Amino acid sequence: MSASWRSQPNLLLVCLFLSATGAVSEQFQLEPLNATVLHGSAVRFNATVQGAWKIMTWSVGGLLVTTVTDIGDNISISEQFSPRFCSSGDTSCVEFTIQNVTRSEGGAVTCFVQGNYGSKTAQLYVQESGTVNIMGGNVTVAQDEQVELQCVSSKWFPIPTVSWTWNSEAVNSSLYNTTSMADGDFFNCTSVLKFQAVRDTQIECRATVETLASPQSSSVYLEVVPKPTDWTVLIAVVVSIGSFALLVLLIIGIIFCYKRRKEKKTKYEDEMSRRVRTQSQISTVQENPGYVPEGQTSVTPTDFTDSGFFPGKWLHFF
Ligand SMILES: *[C@@H]1O[C@H](CO)[C@@H](O)[C@H](O)[C@H]1NC(C)=O
Ligand SMILES: *[C@@H]1O[C@H](CO)[C@@H](O)[C@H](O)[C@H]1NC(C)=O
Ligand SMILES: *[C@@H]1O[C@H](CO)[C@@H](O)[C@H](O)[C@H]1NC(C)=O
Ligand SMILES: *[C@@H]1O[C@H](CO)[C@@H](O)[C@H](O)[C@H]1NC(C)=O
Ligand SMILES: *[C@@H]1O[C@H](CO)[C@@H](O)[C@H](O)[C@H]1NC(C)=O
Ligand SMILES: *[C@@H]1O[C@H](CO)[C@@H](O)[C@H](O)[C@H]1NC(C)=O
Ligand SMILES: *[C@@H]1O[C@H](CO)[C@@H](O)[C@H](O)[C@H]1NC(C)=O
Ligand SMILES: *[C@@H]1O[C@H](CO)[C@@H](O)[C@H](O)[C@H]1NC(C)=O
Repeated sequence: MSASWRSQPNLLLVCLFLSATGAVSEQFQLEPLNATVLHGSAVRFNATVQGAWKIMTWSVGGLLVTTVTDIGDNISISEQFSPRFCSSGDTSCVEFTIQNVTRSEGGAVTCFVQGNYGSKTAQLYVQESGTVNIMGGNVTVAQDEQVELQCVSSKWFPIPTVSWTWNSEAVNSSLYNTTSMADGDFFNCTSVLKFQAVRDTQIECRATVETLASPQSSSVYLEVVPKPTDWTVLIAVVVSIGSFALLVLLIIGIIFCYKRRKEKKTKYEDEMSRRVRTQSQISTVQENPGYVPEGQTSVTPTDFTDSGFFPGKWLHFF
């Protein structure tokens, strides 16, 4: 290029002349061309102009919001937008500020410098910090029981990064799954953490987006109680001891009853032999006609047969 300029010295002179008067090499820089900020914060853009300029305008999302002149006269549609010189006395750099940024200011931010400068456009990304909540609050579970915790993050933009900690240490990401769904211009995320309860733990769910200084979080306490299997063992022991005792009692009872019955039987036999003896005595006594033995009616079978009472009495009667 310098070779061709050397061969065409007239053109070089023309260029130098135009540059000095600001007619051809008029240009400016807009910085940054990408800006990502959190909802509610302020964002600033610098326009640095090489050369003289008279009027500069700023548009946000296609809407003209600010006009400023090289001597500092300026007007904006609201206090949210304001221009100032980057350093006093130097009119080549204008810093444009948007206060209290919302999603509606997101998108194109265009600076236009009147003359041959044209315009330059930057992109503004606005992020939203939403809420985080571990559903269900504090939990109490048995030792070694499977625990499932659900963390819901609402009203975020873009999709937040969700992570979990226990006792302030990061939880291995293989233990949780996070799904997200659009809710209008926002995102809701649900993260499900599954693990086995070991000991009392403080569990925290964190959600963040890159512009957030510290993540939003929600925490619960996990209380671990001894496993119910210990109780089953205890119950089993109590039950088996109890049934053993019962069995022993039963056996003792049976033996006792058997002994009692045997004693009774011998007593009964004694009684029987005694009765038999008395009976024979009775039968001897019965030959005496005035005697009626105990438990017998006056009419005994012997009356019908032995004395021939039945036909005899009737015969007497007729
Ligand atoms: C601006 O950000 C977008 C997306 O984040 C990226 O594709 C692009 O290259 C960035 N541009 C500059 C100039 O950094
Ligand atoms: C704009 O320029 C000023 C002065 O050089 C500097 O302090 C500031 O950080 C710049 N801002 C941006 C957004 O580049
Ligand atoms: C715009 O005007 C305000 C006061 O109206 C002033 O403080 C500010 O410095 C002006 N901006 C520039 C670029 O001079
Ligand atoms: C920021 O904007 C919101 C609404 O867009 C408003 O409620 C709030 O008061 C503003 N904050 C400041 C500091 O201007
Ligand atoms: C959860 O447990 C902690 C510590 O035991 C306690 O400070 C907190 O109030 C409990 N939260 C709820 C919602 O019960
Ligand atoms: C996370 O768990 C997986 C599988 O259980 C394992 O391979 C990996 O090393 C763990 N990562 C860390 C950082 O502990
Ligand atoms: C996460 O999802 C994958 C696939 O749906 C599944 O295989 C895995 O078990 C899940 N992990 C947890 C901790 O839920
Ligand atoms: C997102 O979360 C909010 C607040 O919890 C809820 O009202 C809304 O229904 C959720 N949206 C979707 C699509 O789940």
